[in-house]
Amino acid sequence: MHSLEDKVVIISGAVGGLGEAFARAILDAGGSVMLTDVSQEGLDRLAAELGDRVHTRTLDVREEEDWVRAVDAAVARFGKVTGLINNAGVTTSRCLLEEETAEQFMGIIGVNLLGVHLGMRVVIPHLRANGGGSIVNISSGAGMMGIAKTGGYAAAKWGVRGITKVAAVELGKDAIRVNSVHPGIIETNMTSRLGVSSEPGGLPSAPAGRAGVPSEVAGLAAFLLSDAASYISGAEMTADGAWTAGPVPA
Ligand SMILES: NC(=O)c1ccc[n+]([C@@H]2O[C@H](COP(=O)([O-])OP(=O)(O)OC[C@H]3O[C@@H](n4cnc5c(N)ncnc54)[C@H](O)[C@@H]3O)[C@@H](O)[C@H]2O)c1
Repeated sequence: MHSLEDKVVIISGAVGGLGEAFARAILDAGGSVMLTDVSQEGLDRLAAELGDRVHTRTLDVREEEDWVRAVDAAVARFGKVTGLINNAGVTTSRCLLEEETAEQFMGIIGVNLLGVHLGMRVVIPHLRANGGGSIVNISSGAGMMGIAKTGGYAAAKWGVRGITKVAAVELGKDAIRVNSVHPGIIETNMTSRLGVSSEPGGLPSAPAGRAGVPSEVAGLAAFLLSDAASYISGAEMTADGAWTAGPVPA
């Protein structure tokens, strides 16, 4: 595993399946984490379980002031911020786009796209002041192809993919790298109603034949946060068992 010693990473949606796995991977590599989520109860559980190099703050990603408070708390506790994982998300409304109301659509855009914008907006000056850093924006396979009944979710995740490239271009001169990660179907609360599993045969539509587990995405994010990824920016990287690469051969 690549070292993350001296790295301080802010994670949004840290209480969820992927968020917790990101936290554990960063801690395992020697880094420190500022865990944020709307769930105070979940943050308290993680703080009790994960030890010293962990600090927590409740944060709604749609609220810029929450971001400012969380970043200030991270700097007060750890002295700096070197990375951000924009991970918080809500799922699709699971209806055809002609049935998806403006309220449903904008609700998803608010968390999954505006939240990413605000996180970058608030964290970027801190990374710049520190001489650079790494931002990992969690998109989705739904941000790489068209999947029925994912309208607002897909719009947000394609948006995350696009804004990631804009940020990478704008921030290259500041040694701030920005990449998007596109998980396939991963076993978490978000996918618990889909009837898929990470056991062999648990997802026949993926060439890997199964869903993924959160640690199989976390290693990629940890790599992108590390100095081993020093020339990787503006990239879109999948962790999906080849789900977006093409259909399973007949
Ligand atoms: N699980 C998958 O198959 C999968 C696939 C592709 C992409 N993703 C993306 O990965 C990310 C994490 O998903 P997950 O599977 O861990 O889901 P999850 O439901 O387990 O966790 C999501 C977390 O986000 C938090 N959250 C929701 N709204 C918030 C807000 N307004 N502000 C702050 N936090 C908020 C929730 O409290 C929760 O802890 C999401 O962006 C999701 O779209 C997941």
